[in-house]
Amino acid sequence: MTYRKIDVSPIAGALGAEIGGVDLAQPLDDETFAEVRRAFDENLIIFFRDQTITPEQHLAFAGRFGEFDIHPFVAGLPDHPEVMPVIKEADDQGTNFGGLWHSDVTFYERPPLGSMLYALDAPAYGGDTMFANQYLAYDTLSDGLKDMLDGMTVVHSATRVYGNTDTAIAKYGPGAKSMQVRTGDDANATVEHPAVRLIPETGRKALFVNGTYAIRFSGWTEAESKPLLDYLCDHAVRPEFTCRFRWRAGSIAFWDNRCAQHNALNDYHGQRREMHRVTIVGERPMSIRDGSRAAAA
Ligand code: SIN
Repeated sequence: MTYRKIDVSPIAGALGAEIGGVDLAQPLDDETFAEVRRAFDENLIIFFRDQTITPEQHLAFAGRFGEFDIHPFVAGLPDHPEVMPVIKEADDQGTNFGGLWHSDVTFYERPPLGSMLYALDAPAYGGDTMFANQYLAYDTLSDGLKDMLDGMTVVHSATRVYGNTDTAIAKYGPGAKSMQVRTGDDANATVEHPAVRLIPETGRKALFVNGTYAIRFSGWTEAESKPLLDYLCDHAVRPEFTCRFRWRAGSIAFWDNRCAQHNALNDYHGQRREMHRVTIVGERPMSIRDGSRAAAA
């Protein structure tokens, strides 16, 4: 199906498309919004260039996709807690926020539909974000491994990133200087999700494990799980499943957190980068079994 109201230009073979012909400072009419939503479902990540939006306009556009999430460990703007600044200062030589392959907050029972990131300040070079298509990650597994994973669940937790351990924030989190992040024992809570989830809008299966929050397979120990999780996490981000987005001030990316992973590259020490992130609440991941039951009912 073609698009009448917007321009959609893929940026890579695997996923990601730039959308042209919209000014996100203005409300979108329903037909234009429906095309934007279709482009999101078809491309997994949509990008916009040269936008100038206030936090209110950011929220107005993001709010067309669903309810807002407020991050439990990272502070939002004082006036808009739903807008989370993602900042690395020029003199911060530490780790960066989101600087490893992950899907956002999969330690929730209902992990987000997606996050919308708006660039206020972008480095002259570096600081790109990479994305990886988890439909392709699933589709390219062997039939034997697909059959096994279709029936498995994975335990997710925020413990490695936001738990009260020496390594948590130091290793995985942002430099304390750039953002307000807390750790806590509540990060040790666990939740179980299917290893493979069915995305209702496309009817496609996506691999749903990530090396940041997936701890082990349900009913397996961490030691037993590690070799297979390591294999899947490496496989999930093979170069041919990815795209890479070069930021400029005014760029926006909105990713489908259900079927794509992302990784913010930390290769711009000495330069400042500032983003605003708004995250949209998602549904409970649907397992293949749940999907078959729903189809039979
Ligand atoms: C994130 O994981 O939300 C941060 C992504 C980025 O800064 O590019």
